[in-house]
Amino acid sequence: MTSEASSFRAHHPSRLRRSVLTVPAINDRALEKVAGLDCDAVIFDLEDSVAEDRKQDARRKLLEFLDNTDLGHRERIIRINASGTPHYREDMSLVLAALPDAVLLPKVEEPVTVQDVADLLGESDAAEGLRIWAMIETPRGVLNAAAIASSGRTSDSRLDAFVVGLNDLRKATGIPAAPGRTYLVPYLMQVVLAARAYGLDVIDSVSNDFRDIQAFSEECGQGRAMGFDGKMLIHPAQIEPANRHFGPSDAAIAEARLVVDAFSDPAHAGLNVINIDGRMIERLHAEEAARLLAKVALITARKDKP
Ligand code: COA
Ligand code: MG
Repeated sequence: MTSEASSFRAHHPSRLRRSVLTVPAINDRALEKVAGLDCDAVIFDLEDSVAEDRKQDARRKLLEFLDNTDLGHRERIIRINASGTPHYREDMSLVLAALPDAVLLPKVEEPVTVQDVADLLGESDAAEGLRIWAMIETPRGVLNAAAIASSGRTSDSRLDAFVVGLNDLRKATGIPAAPGRTYLVPYLMQVVLAARAYGLDVIDSVSNDFRDIQAFSEECGQGRAMGFDGKMLIHPAQIEPANRHFGPSDAAIAEARLVVDAFSDPAHAGLNVINIDGRMIERLHAEEAARLLAKVALITARKDKP
């Protein structure tokens, strides 16, 4: 893709990323479960959920698991340890052996971190389609989000999505966890805007309290309202609310059909602005509606499968 082409890459739903479940690569019981869960993507974690002295064990388990498990429609992402750690090289070797859909880099603060991984992946023909996801979870990561996202414009860039990490960001900023995430919203919106400016998907942070599904559901609604594509999840109980909130509502689907039908009506041929029941609808709304209906088609195709 040329830099110009990718900088104008439309935000289109080629993949569903409503529910992105994370699983510690060391946890056999949880690993066994994922192929039966209704999540859109799975992050296999080698970073913070795996103790220092168990990293090797986790890599071994994960490679065996991925070699022997068909995860169907679920996107497979491996979260590695950061490049400054002693685990980075071996984690990257595992990524090149397992060939997941994407590698998730923790605590990204500068474009060069993404470029270094892209260069490493570029040395392997087998890794051609392997994408890069970046966690934005430090003050410098948030401040540099636009520069990091813009690095996705180069032709060899593999950057595909941002994931926000609020546990690390709260720790670094001293902002306590609180309902509504009031003082974190400006940072979150900055990350969403940076992602949108350069055509990346953007995934909201995990919520730690997996027993309070009501509070979690409200946070999904808030994340959707802020423009996120989906949410990173820590527990299977969080999948259904995430799929519901980040998937299109019945009302939104009906509206999208109305708009698409109105613009395909021969009576409106050649018009860029039309009147539907006293509201101005522009052709850009029809494009937006078509994208929403494409997402619906992906969800329906999923449901039709066993
Ligand atoms: N993926 C798949 N299955 C999971 C799961 C996950 N993330 N979290 C829990 N489960 C399974 C459990 O194995 C358990 O299965 P079982 O009934 O066969 O034993 C079932 O769901 C119910 O789990 P529950 O007893 O409610 O919780 P737990 O004490 O087993 O696990 C956590 C709680 C928080 C330790 C676990 O959810 C977890 O490790 N989550 C991911 C953490 C992570 O990756 N953090 C790093 C990024 S922030
Ligand atoms: Mg983190």
